[in-house]
Amino acid sequence: MDSADIANDLTEVLYTKDQIAARLAELAAEIDRDYADKNPLLVGVLNGAVMVVADLSRALKIHCEMDWMAVSSYGSGTQTSGVVRILKDLNAHLAGRHVIVVEDIIDTGLTLSYLMQNLATREPASLQIMTMFRKPAAIQVELDIAYVGFDIPNQFVVGYGLDYAGRYRNLTGVGILSPAIYS
Ligand code: IMP
Repeated sequence: MDSADIANDLTEVLYTKDQIAARLAELAAEIDRDYADKNPLLVGVLNGAVMVVADLSRALKIHCEMDWMAVSSYGSGTQTSGVVRILKDLNAHLAGRHVIVVEDIIDTGLTLSYLMQNLATREPASLQIMTMFRKPAAIQVELDIAYVGFDIPNQFVVGYGLDYAGRYRNLTGVGILSPAIYS
């Protein structure tokens, strides 16, 4: 699905499919350099990170492995509480592995902060974060993020894995959702 297919649902297209692919290629080149011979384990957080992991992994020239987690945060409505329940844990053991947690978006950072504390107890050789999008104005915790695709405004966005009520994940670019859709 392209933005032209749902033109009335977006107030603005932030990044097109091609812009996302170009930025991802730059990040992949950095990861190629940083992780040469390290066979990193890409940990994708379901469901949003599916597109990023699929595209990042194929843009890498080094070997990598992939694994998946599903989490749900306790909270009321749209507020994240930062307390996370693991719905699906990793199959892989992290001890001694070089782990990159791959995220679609970091908003408050509360979910990821909790997840990072959990993963760190499993004694990986290294543990880093890559996110495609970040909202600097929304962040509420200190997070050391090694790789960031784009910093975006503090607005609700959809596309490239990001959903509203389960929809829009298959939009190839990323755009700001029109308030008319959720009001
Ligand atoms: P955090 O704990 O506030 O950082 O929550 C991050 C999660 O909230 C992401 O993994 C997304 O699932 C969701 N999220 C945050 N902002 C957006 C957005 O603008 N569009 C779609 N989902 C979002």
